Amino acid sequence: MKVLLINGSPNRNGCTNRALEEVEKSLREEGIDTEIFQIGNGRVHGCNGCNACEKTGRCIHDDDPANKMLSLMKEADGIVIGTPVYYSGANGALCALLDRIFYSGGNQLAGKPAAAVVSARRSGTTAAFQRINQYFSIKKMPIVTSQYWNNVHGYTVEDVEKDLEGLQTMRTLGKNMAWLLKIISSGKSEGIIFPEGEKLIYTDFIR
Ligand SMILES: Cc1cc2nc3c(=O)[nH]c(=O)nc-3n(C[C@H](O)[C@H](O)[C@H](O)COP(=O)(O)O)c2cc1C
Repeated sequence: MKVLLINGSPNRNGCTNRALEEVEKSLREEGIDTEIFQIGNGRVHGCNGCNACEKTGRCIHDDDPANKMLSLMKEADGIVIGTPVYYSGANGALCALLDRIFYSGGNQLAGKPAAAVVSARRSGTTAAFQRINQYFSIKKMPIVTSQYWNNVHGYTVEDVEKDLEGLQTMRTLGKNMAWLLKIISSGKSEGIIFPEGEKLIYTDFIR
């Protein structure tokens, strides 16, 4: 079993990464494989709303990490998405990628446990946390929780090291993710599989 942890900060070794490392350590202690994927600091496209992905299942823009991230997410058994707080929200570049990933391939992620992780110097964590959880909750992805909302606080990695409660929250999140993955895996061996669901009813207005 493998969990993909996405670092949605342009800083490879910053505070978000430190939080993800703590989740990763805890997952590995439970025998779960992990990979941290860094979105980087290159240019990313927003969604064109062209709907070309409806036919192909992938975004027409191939010169940023969106399609690569989608294929890694499809391969993973569980997903953790980390973001720094920017003006009381998730990183815009990360959201641009996630909009396209979930629009083009989100249906293929149904049933995969997922969690958001947020790093802030001071405030805005709950809005950013909510923003990332919205992707999961519209695509039938069970959201894994911890002992508190999944935040660390810091402007530097050294600050995060001092956020003992935040780091403990990350470790608890890793344990809880591992627990759910093991339950899903043993359920599968008993023939319990994720419900296929009804044919989607799609109304674009209410009357
Ligand atoms: C453009 C920008 C906006 C920010 N906005 C906020 C904010 O609204 N609230 C906050 O607490 N920290 C804010 N910060 C600080 C970062 O969220 C914080 O330092 C975070 O831990 C950085 O994570 P990283 O090291 O993984 O990039 C902002 C930083 C940047 C660069």
